Amino acid sequence: MKILSSIQEMKTWRREHGGTIGFVPTMGALHQGHGSLIEAAKKHSDKTVVSIFVNPTQFTNQDDLKNYPRTETEDIRLMLKWGVDAAFLPVAHEIYSGGYKFTITESSESKILCGAHRPGHFDGVLTVVAKLFNIVEPDHAYFGEKDFQQLKLISGMVQALNIPVDVVACPTVREADGLAMSSRNVRLTSLERELAAQLPQVLKKSAGTDVARAELSRLGFKVDYVEDFWGRRLAAVHLGKVRLIDNVEI
Ligand code: PAJ
Repeated sequence: MKILSSIQEMKTWRREHGGTIGFVPTMGALHQGHGSLIEAAKKHSDKTVVSIFVNPTQFTNQDDLKNYPRTETEDIRLMLKWGVDAAFLPVAHEIYSGGYKFTITESSESKILCGAHRPGHFDGVLTVVAKLFNIVEPDHAYFGEKDFQQLKLISGMVQALNIPVDVVACPTVREADGLAMSSRNVRLTSLERELAAQLPQVLKKSAGTDVARAELSRLGFKVDYVEDFWGRRLAAVHLGKVRLIDNVEI
């Protein structure tokens, strides 16, 4: 596996590998959710590229950015195990060497749900994903349904801006008790971790969003939102210091 840390190195590697590229952008602290995206990518492309970049512009809370898990050595071990061909690990000052003056803003669906609670978050996501697409030039790019609003917005951006990348949606990977895998789960205390498994269950079994919201509050979650959208029931909640999101089909 090639480890590439500058934009130039990444571009040179891309030029040397003319076949199809499957790309999985991540913020690291890799888990089986990321693994499933890599597995899907490997099936459909000649080479698989994974990026690890904790993107500062999508964090709306400086503590969350500071405390975001960084496990580079373990990530490299997993990427080797999963058969990744190239790992792109850029540094923030190179990605944002021109500052953060030119951004991509979606004006409607980025303002609801997570966007309403984290203003500017999706500008950061869309801008960095567009940059990564221009640097890596993938044929296919893989995103998890776990972050459903993000997936919708990236698909929309690619269509609206005629970006020649095929966006592939991958189902949410869950722990045995149903909790959606997330890099942030390691920051839950053992009590919070146990309670967290209730989130998808409540979303699934509640008759409506009001019922789900009330039940989650009663259980001790601090609810940001529970809304039905795109045929899904989506939620964001806080447990202690950790913000969790999930969504289920309705
Ligand atoms: P990150 O949270 O690291 O997630 C990287 C990709 O893995 C995203 O497409 C996400 O939806 C997917 N993913 C995470 N947990 C998953 C799970 N349990 N099952 C299936 N897929 C899962 O999302 C980001 O990073 C960033 O916003 C990024 C797109 C990289 C831009 O910075």
